[in-house]
Amino acid sequence: MTAQLNPRGDVAVLVPAAGAGVRLGPGVPKALRLLAGEPLLVHAVRRIAAAGSVHTIVVAAPAGEVGAVRRLLAPVAPVLVVPGGAERQASVAAALAAVPAGPGIVLVHDAARALTPPDLVESVAGAVRSGHDAVIPALPVVDTIKEVGAGEVVLGTVDRSALRAVQTPQGFRRSVLVAAHAAAGDPLTDDAGLVEKQGIPVVCVPGSEYAFKVTRPFDLALAEHLLATGA
Ligand code: CTP
Ligand code: MG
Repeated sequence: MTAQLNPRGDVAVLVPAAGAGVRLGPGVPKALRLLAGEPLLVHAVRRIAAAGSVHTIVVAAPAGEVGAVRRLLAPVAPVLVVPGGAERQASVAAALAAVPAGPGIVLVHDAARALTPPDLVESVAGAVRSGHDAVIPALPVVDTIKEVGAGEVVLGTVDRSALRAVQTPQGFRRSVLVAAHAAAGDPLTDDAGLVEKQGIPVVCVPGSEYAFKVTRPFDLALAEHLLATGA
């Protein structure tokens, strides 16, 4: 059954899904790789669509797969599908340009974070709604972090207490994200980075272990296990 989005919702979610998935190994584009029999993108979109304040979902698909992705997602939720770009930042910009009038909050969420709970979408959106221009989910760093130089020689130990591992969805007041992308230079790996360059404060909210990014084969195995045990 196709999930209905909320026509009175104030949130658009952009889903960059145009990457190749080089680190996952050879095969179809990562967003279309199967996890428990369904593409990663289907898992991700189903969870986004279950978040109550989502009005619009825009997916940036691999350029050659736009029609296939439309057909794939039609039974899952009403989505707009646009061709993505060569870098993640270009894919996000293409999706942002397709957001219809209405939503005042825009979230950007990697298709590869396929098990992200709908609650995290709502908590990020809620923090933007409460007045923050830019909000990112983050977790403390658990490993000790070393800075290294030439020959893998350790230069020093970084103070872990001041570090965070950052996830998506990242949430923005719409005008802030539009301005940040309009001013963007070299491609960055997240959207908050563009907003930081504008001198706008970015605030962290608690992330979720389930919002990990499927990047390497181990992550896919972990996701399979979590789904089999009820995620
Ligand atoms: N992405 C995108 N357009 C690109 C590159 C990445 O929409 N040109 C998306 C990916 O599909 C993914 C998200 O951005 O959902 C995060 O990127 P990453 O995990 O790096 O995915 P890939 O680029 O596909 O993986 P890799 O870097 O291993 O090739
Ligand atoms: Mg990549």
